[in-house]
Amino acid sequence: MTQSVKFDKLAATYDAARGGEGRGHMTAATISPHLAPGSVLEVGVGTGVVAAGLAALGHTVRGVDVSQPMLEVAAKRFDGELLLGDGMALPFEDASQDNVVYVHALHLMPDMASALSEAARVLRPGGRVVVRHGDPVADSDDLVLILRQVQGMQPARPDEPAAVRTAAEVAGLQMCQQGLEPEYESGMSPETFIALIVNRQVPFLQRLAPERAAEVVEPILKQLYALPEPQRVRRQAWSCWLTVAQKQV
Ligand SMILES: C[S@@+](CC[C@H](N)C(=O)[O-])C[C@H]1O[C@@H](n2cnc3c(N)ncnc32)[C@H](O)[C@@H]1O
Repeated sequence: MTQSVKFDKLAATYDAARGGEGRGHMTAATISPHLAPGSVLEVGVGTGVVAAGLAALGHTVRGVDVSQPMLEVAAKRFDGELLLGDGMALPFEDASQDNVVYVHALHLMPDMASALSEAARVLRPGGRVVVRHGDPVADSDDLVLILRQVQGMQPARPDEPAAVRTAAEVAGLQMCQQGLEPEYESGMSPETFIALIVNRQVPFLQRLAPERAAEVVEPILKQLYALPEPQRVRRQAWSCWLTVAQKQV
């Protein structure tokens, strides 16, 4: 399944499953301090939650995505420029952008080094690439412990820090910084998590082959049903990787 088709199907439920505008605003606040002066292009803008958060912080933001249904949701919350387009062939002139941002999107590009080379092409000298990437991590609670087991069963993600650093260097970008940084807070009860799993709305199930997903779901659901206080919301502070790189001046 192509990324476009996959996200076309998820558009209607994406915000409810992935933290919605609350997450978008928190993530935007972690990106904003690293931007070069000027406007922001978000590649893989999705439903626009991060773009809307950056706009609320005063940035001029535009977004590109391969999925028309995701862009239609974005257009309802965000009045910046939104374009149907591929991160591998951005619909912009050379040196026309001040910043290119990816939030949990770089790993979906067919090749991270080629995607970042395309970002480098459209960036002006001194322009920046800011990437939030990798599996989110949080302090242990009973839900996080179950989620961690599931993360361990998945195929390795391409956007682990060393690979993103190498891709940026191959693209001719200069590394500014890389680290595991707080990104957003969320709250979830076992009951909500069970509903997301049953409806196949959680990202980890979407990355597993369908036959493997069926094997994984049953023992996970069993553990979730056994948790005490199924309606009590557990709050978690999630960290992800932040990589910042710059086009040479
Ligand atoms: C996990 S979502 C993240 C959306 C948004 N950045 C957020 O944090 O909510 C990834 C998005 O990347 C888009 N995408 C996947 N491959 C793409 C590509 N090659 N070019 C542009 N967008 C792409 C998907 O359609 C989807 O909307």
